[in-house]
Amino acid sequence: MLNQYNLKMPTNVFAGPEAMHNLNVILKDSAAKIAIFTGGHIYKLGLLDEVIRIIENNGIEYDIISDIPAEPSYIQAQEVIDQFKVLNADLIIGVGGGSVMDIAKLASVLSTDDYTVKDLLDDPLLAKKQVPSLMIPTTAGTGSEATPNSIVGVPEKDLKVGIVNSELIADHVILDSSMIKNLPKPIAAATGIDALAHAIECFTSKKANPISDTFALEALDLILNNIIEACTDPNALEAKHNMLLGSFYAGVAITSSGTTAVHPLSYPLGGKYHIAHGVSNAILLTPVMKFNEPVIKVLLAKAYDRVVKEPNNELSVEEKSKYIIDLLEDIVKTLEIPTSLKTFNVPEEDLDGLVEAAMQVQRLLVNNMREVTPEDARKMYLEIM
Ligand SMILES: NC(=O)c1ccc[n+]([C@@H]2O[C@H](COP(=O)([O-])OP(=O)(O)OC[C@H]3O[C@@H](n4cnc5c(N)ncnc54)[C@H](O)[C@@H]3O)[C@@H](O)[C@H]2O)c1
Ligand SMILES: [Zn+2]
Repeated sequence: MLNQYNLKMPTNVFAGPEAMHNLNVILKDSAAKIAIFTGGHIYKLGLLDEVIRIIENNGIEYDIISDIPAEPSYIQAQEVIDQFKVLNADLIIGVGGGSVMDIAKLASVLSTDDYTVKDLLDDPLLAKKQVPSLMIPTTAGTGSEATPNSIVGVPEKDLKVGIVNSELIADHVILDSSMIKNLPKPIAAATGIDALAHAIECFTSKKANPISDTFALEALDLILNNIIEACTDPNALEAKHNMLLGSFYAGVAITSSGTTAVHPLSYPLGGKYHIAHGVSNAILLTPVMKFNEPVIKVLLAKAYDRVVKEPNNELSVEEKSKYIIDLLEDIVKTLEIPTSLKTFNVPEEDLDGLVEAAMQVQRLLVNNMREVTPEDARKMYLEIM
């Protein structure tokens, strides 16, 4: 039986070499005052220079909120949004990784005093778009520029929680690989694995459908075949562009499908120990795929047929599936991302708390093809202790 499926995505997407010039096109139609959201060293690294130059050439007033923290809590998000509200901006531009884009997207529904970020955690459907937004990712990446999600830390739950509402989807996106050209290798690697996790989880999700499969498989192809070169060769601009495109497609796949057990098991690691989102996904990717393998091997074999450039047609479904899982494991090792929680001094006595927190993320656990019981979650955490 055919199920229904749906896709919502940003209206206006520019990609390719020097895609940033299209900011002129976006500004022609709108904006008397722009709020630019950014964080970390992005401003100091000069990544805003071109954006600011184009805004100034168009004679438009702007303010910069430059201090968005990495992986913000909902309290930090609210502080940033309170700064934003008084600016009375009529266009939001987010220039950064997922941390920046998630807050910029929240701002697009929060120029009102009618509800707060905390209220949206309790009831995401309260959100209504008030200010149009443009996302310019500087990591490849979360795919936040494509998704209806904003993820914030909830310290009292030791968890990261997603606020999901299609009102959060950006109106405009610019994918310009010059923004990720000088991304330090550890950040490029971890954020690249996040995109990889989005693609493979969405393809093997209970919510997978013909639209999400199209995007997830293309994302998987682009990411698996470019991630090493993009992360290790600063001049590999084509590989970097392919990563940016792949992470955007994986974000589109999230919107129509959904991630599975890697993300829910990863959220407590970000929420409690502040392990970067991509790193915690990298640690969990192989254990979760091995756990799921009995029920997803046909899908992994399909992925093999689609993405492996010189396939061996003699291989069985089991061998193709194993090839893909081994490839994921090799990529994480080659990119020197930690594979154990020992690196982060997570004590074994925290295990019960981790399991309890992960089991709360039913929003995503229900997408997993194989049911994850608390005992299964415990076993997977033990494997990475
Ligand atoms: N909304 C979604 O759909 C979605 C999906 C996945 C993850 N997320 C969330 O996104 C956040 C993680 O985002 P991220 O992985 O992009 O990392 P990030 O935005 O936290 O950035 C990581 C670090 O890299 C720096 N950085 C970013 N771009 C840079 C560049 N071009 N050059 C040098 N340094 C740069 C940042 O300043 C920061 O210090 C988490 O909060 C995660 O939960 C959201
Ligand atoms: Zn993710």
